[in-house]
Amino acid sequence: MKPVSVGVIGLGFMGSRWARALAEHPGARLAVVSDVRDELGRELGDRYGARYVADPLEAAADGELAGIAICTPEHLHLETALAAIEAGKAVMVEKPLAHTVEAAEQIRARAQALGVPVLAGHILRFEPRYAAAARAIAAGEIGAVQAVRSERIGLVSDQEILRGRTSIPLYYGVHELDLLRWYAGDVERVCAERSEGVLRARGYDVEDLYSAVLRFRDGAHGTVMIGWSLPAATPGYGIAGMTVIGERGVVRVTQGELGIQHVGEGGLRDLDVHYAPEVHGRLWGALAIEVNHFVACANGSAKPLCTAHDGTEAVRLGLALEESAQAGVPVSIAKTGPPP
Ligand SMILES: NC(=O)c1ccc[n+]([C@@H]2O[C@H](COP(=O)([O-])OP(=O)(O)OC[C@H]3O[C@@H](n4cnc5c(N)ncnc54)[C@H](O)[C@@H]3O)[C@@H](O)[C@H]2O)c1
Repeated sequence: MKPVSVGVIGLGFMGSRWARALAEHPGARLAVVSDVRDELGRELGDRYGARYVADPLEAAADGELAGIAICTPEHLHLETALAAIEAGKAVMVEKPLAHTVEAAEQIRARAQALGVPVLAGHILRFEPRYAAAARAIAAGEIGAVQAVRSERIGLVSDQEILRGRTSIPLYYGVHELDLLRWYAGDVERVCAERSEGVLRARGYDVEDLYSAVLRFRDGAHGTVMIGWSLPAATPGYGIAGMTVIGERGVVRVTQGELGIQHVGEGGLRDLDVHYAPEVHGRLWGALAIEVNHFVACANGSAKPLCTAHDGTEAVRLGLALEESAQAGVPVSIAKTGPPP
C-alpha cells in the first residue's frame, strides 16, 4: 500500500514526537508540519522532508493530506480540528479533545455528521499494561467491576511547558477518567475536593491536587487522585497507578521497578521505557502503537479505538470534577445515550 500522507500541527513536546513517529512509520509520509513558531516549523520540515505551512488552518485543509495530528495547546484544538474535519481528513486530536464540553461536542457532532474518523489522543489506551487490563476486564476475567482506584500525580516541573495554561482535570484527569470509563463504564456522579498552594507560590494560577469519588451507572464506585505538585526530582515522572476490583478478581497497573537504573552525577535519572522510548534509532512504546493506529485510520483500514465521543465524555468528567470541587457539592453527569 502506498504510504498515506499526513501532517502535524503544533510541534512542541508532543507534536515533535508525533512528527518523528509519523516520519519513521513505513506506512506514512509526513508531508506537512505547522506551528506558529516559524523557525521550529522550518527546522522540523527540513529534518523530515515535510512542507512547512505557517497557517494552521491552511495546514488542516491541505489537499495532499489524508490525516492530521493536532498537537497544539489545549484551548486551541477546536478551530483546527473543525477545519480538518470539514476537509474530510482523519484527525488525531491530542488530549483533551477540547477545553470545554461545548467545544468537544462540536467536534464530535461534525465528525459524526461528515463521517470523518476522529481519534481522541488518549495514549494510555495504547499502553500495553492499561490495554491488557481492559482486555482482562472485557473478557470477564475479574467478573463485574465493583471498584476502581486511579492516580496520576506529576511534577512541579510540568509547568516549565504548561505555565499554568490548563487545569489538572483537563491535563492528567482526562487520561485517568477515560481509562475509568473504559474499565467501568459511564459515570453517574462525581464528588471532588482539591488543594492548592504549591504552584500558586511558584506564580502559576492553578491548583495542586484533586481527589474525587465516582459513582458509575453500572454500579461500581471508585476514586481518582490527580495532580502535578511533586518535587521535580521525584523518580518515575511522578506517581501513577490503577486498581480495578471485580467480583472474582483484581487487575492492577503498578508503577513498580522499571528493571533499569540510570544514575548520573546528579543522582537518579528517569528513562522512558513505556511511552516513547527510542530503540535502535526509532520511537516505539505506547506512542508508536497509537501512531500506527492513526495511520490505519488515515488509510481507511481502521476506525478510531478511542473516539470523539470518548474524548468528549472525558472532558465532561474532568470539568465536572472542577465544578464539584469549586462548589463543594456532588455533580451529576448528564446521560448522553449510546455512543455514535
Ligand atoms: N498524550 C500525552 O501523554 C500528552 C503529553 C503532553 C501533552 N499532551 C497534550 O498535547 C498537546 C500539546 O501539548 P505540548 O506539551 O506538546 O505543548 P507545547 O507547548 O510543548 O507545544 C505546543 C506547540 O503548539 C504551537 N502552537 C501554539 N499555538 C499554535 C497555533 N495556533 N497553531 C499552531 N501551532 C501552535 C506552539 O508553538 C508549540 O510548538 C496538549 O493538548 C497537551 O495536553 C499530551
